[in-house]
Amino acid sequence: MDRRKFIQVSVAAASAGIAARKEAAAQAKGARPVVIASANGLNATEKAMQMLRQGEDTLDAVVAGVNLVENDPEDTSVGYGGLPNEQGVVELDSSVMHGPSRGGGAVASIRNIKNPSSVAKLVMERTDHVLLVGEGALDFARSMGFEEEDLMTPKSREIWMRWKRNLSDRDDWIAPEERLPASLKPKQTAQLASALRHHGTINCNAVNEKGEISGVTTTSGLAFKIPGRVGDSPILGAGLYLDNDVGACGSTGRGEANLKTCASFLGVEFMRQGDSPEEAGLKVLKRIAENTVEPYLLDDQGRPRFNVNFYLVNKAGQFAGVSMWSGGRYAAYEGRENKIRNSAYLYKRPPRR
Ligand code: GLY
Repeated sequence: MDRRKFIQVSVAAASAGIAARKEAAAQAKGARPVVIASANGLNATEKAMQMLRQGEDTLDAVVAGVNLVENDPEDTSVGYGGLPNEQGVVELDSSVMHGPSRGGGAVASIRNIKNPSSVAKLVMERTDHVLLVGEGALDFARSMGFEEEDLMTPKSREIWMRWKRNLSDRDDWIAPEERLPASLKPKQTAQLASALRHHGTINCNAVNEKGEISGVTTTSGLAFKIPGRVGDSPILGAGLYLDNDVGACGSTGRGEANLKTCASFLGVEFMRQGDSPEEAGLKVLKRIAENTVEPYLLDDQGRPRFNVNFYLVNKAGQFAGVSMWSGGRYAAYEGRENKIRNSAYLYKRPPRR
């Protein structure tokens, strides 16, 4: 393409993006408030919407929403009861972004604090930094009055112990049931099986009737990770990104894939160019699939074996959940309805035999 043609094409693409943004902004003037979250966030969307209706700030609303999930000992993906690293220590990651003030804050590998999202929000509000990690993040949380506590619960400890026992048949760890004859062995529950190695996380994004946007992602990360492993959740642009002029995108699933593709940033940029939330999310998944080349991550048809999910909303309040594989779900509160919905997907899972 010659230079003149290149400039004409670039100008046309930029004009289309500006037109799409203007349209979204115009629609946003009368936007209905929307809160979306990963499927474990139905309580979070409920709480956040209540707060939006009372006129509260969008970031206060989504953080209060995910605090409910962080505090829930039954949810093994985040906060109290989140699954630990390989040494049995819970290490948490979180980030927040506040559209109206263009602010962002994050913490990574923080221990002993069950609400890392609230600490991330204070990093944004009370420091000139964006990301604090490890001991520094813990010191900061202590100085802000957060109490330290053991984040392991009987349930998360049992799941971790089971993982440890199954690492090798050449060590001295055994499960109590291994002493039993086969007829007396209890069946492994589906819940336990799925928890054995997962990237549990909650992402929650909100738009209010003024078109103001905020988002939060919070997680205990990859279960049984190498200590110090940081995923996508506390990295702005990877596990969360938003632009108050455009929309928000956040993620759950394999963080390494998002880190290598700046996935949430990309989702927002696709929306900036005029894509709907669903189109933008599917394009991000395609980019991830194209960039996955490690043989151990691919199936026999060259598709990623892992799952990754995005939750996108634009300034006008249009929203979507998308997943690499069919069967994904997400929570969304729109109008009077707070419910779990099916995500769009890139690949259809083969039926179970
Ligand atoms: N997406 C969460 C993680 O990989 O840590």
